[in-house]
Amino acid sequence: DEYDLVITNGVCVTAADVAPLDIAIRDGTIVLLAPSGLLSKARTKRLIDAEGGYVMPGGVDCHVHLQEPSMFGKGTSADSYETGTRSAIAGGTTTIIAFAPQQKNVDSVLTALTNTHALAQNNSFCDYGFHVLVANPCEKALSEFEQLASVEGVTSLKIYMTYEALQLRDNEILSVLLAARSNHILTMIHAENGDVLAWLTEKLEAAKLFAPKYHGHSHAPILESEATNRAIALSSLVADTPILLVHVSEPAAALRIRAAQTVGQPIFAETCPQYLFLTRDDLDQPGFEGAKCVCAPPPRDADDQKAIWRGLQNGTFAVLSSDHCPFRFDDAVTGKKTCISDEFPVGKFRHIPNGIPGIETRLPLVFSARKLELTKFVEVTSTNAAKLYGLYPRKGGIIPGVSDADLVVWYPEGRLGEFPLTNDLLHHDVDYTPYEGRMLRNWPRYTILRGKVIWDRDEGGIVGERSYGRFLKRQESSLNGIWQTVEEDGPFDLEKL
Ligand code: URP
Ligand code: ZN
Ligand code: ZN
Repeated sequence: DEYDLVITNGVCVTAADVAPLDIAIRDGTIVLLAPSGLLSKARTKRLIDAEGGYVMPGGVDCHVHLQEPSMFGKGTSADSYETGTRSAIAGGTTTIIAFAPQQKNVDSVLTALTNTHALAQNNSFCDYGFHVLVANPCEKALSEFEQLASVEGVTSLKIYMTYEALQLRDNEILSVLLAARSNHILTMIHAENGDVLAWLTEKLEAAKLFAPKYHGHSHAPILESEATNRAIALSSLVADTPILLVHVSEPAAALRIRAAQTVGQPIFAETCPQYLFLTRDDLDQPGFEGAKCVCAPPPRDADDQKAIWRGLQNGTFAVLSSDHCPFRFDDAVTGKKTCISDEFPVGKFRHIPNGIPGIETRLPLVFSARKLELTKFVEVTSTNAAKLYGLYPRKGGIIPGVSDADLVVWYPEGRLGEFPLTNDLLHHDVDYTPYEGRMLRNWPRYTILRGKVIWDRDEGGIVGERSYGRFLKRQESSLNGIWQTVEEDGPFDLEKL
């Protein structure tokens, strides 16, 4: 029978193996892997010659903010589902998991989900799922968790230990963990101590220190290590409910996570390119430029970067996500410049919207850095994300007869030479990239989603359609059998405390 697409002469990389293999695709699924060259004459509607380039499962970016209300109340983050997912596919990502944000004054999380579906439906170039962002863990919201997981296919949520509009108290965190546990929902935690942040911000402002670089001072590393330790303690109190620490940026937090993992606690962690490629010096630029790198946690220093790379290499971090949360730079209504006034010409760091763009640059930056083994690169940027969030083996793998034909084909090594990353190469709706001028060595040549070429860098660029992306109902997390220990313990028992 004829195939829809054959990719020949590629070197296939999965989380486990690197091998020269041809790939045949029919009806959106991978149907056959064969020794390299064997399928070059097969009957197929389309043949792609990878010319010796690497072929990998499409990127899975499990931490993305699109069209979300700013946590400081003015407007929304810059990219819509259309522009954000357009940017994703140009950077080799075929699946994203974005947030459905509940507002503090709303009692339902299902409403948040419905609203976010309306933004994404027929408006996404790649496949997508949602995490709910729980800002108001009232009885009603907690009682909806069962429907979230068993009907809606939403098996993860995020909570914050900081930001006035979102911060939960420890008792509220415990209630969320308990409800999440009984529904096998994975709880993602933004671990920074919001009270210490508020206190440091007051002190800095009292000393008339307002420039963007003081954002870094206000988010001192102990905010993160303390909150990480507390989150792990709260998880252990609720009978070892699995949690995932998002966007970990500094070594003391990473060490605490590693210690918990070593004694068998179900503690998972994520890091992001900003903690591998930016430092506090990037916040300390003339005028207001530093605002381009304001995110939370903030970029740290060079030694911290090394520790974060090590955490990827040694398995402390299961996933490497973008935390794409862009705000335009030169936009006084919804951008970084909302915090500039006549009185404060370099702005007030406390009002700079937190977050940076990175959905398109995640794979090219990390791939070009050549600091991870190829299999590790695929593991943290695709396979583990799919496992952690209940999408594997449909996503994140290339198993014949099982996996969607979601692939990224890189150029043969050296074909592009070294070239600088510039914002005009990118497809987001943002007026800058924090990585302007960084040297790259490769870029996704083709991105393929369910057997269809959606990004063809040499012929047409974005060739997919914004109505092609599908909502993904997710199963419970399967990474490292994370719910097994929970089941052995039986139901949470207050008398055991
Ligand atoms: O600065 C960041 N990371 N903004 C995005 C929101 C979040 O906390 O993930
Ligand atoms: Zn966060
Ligand atoms: Zn985020």
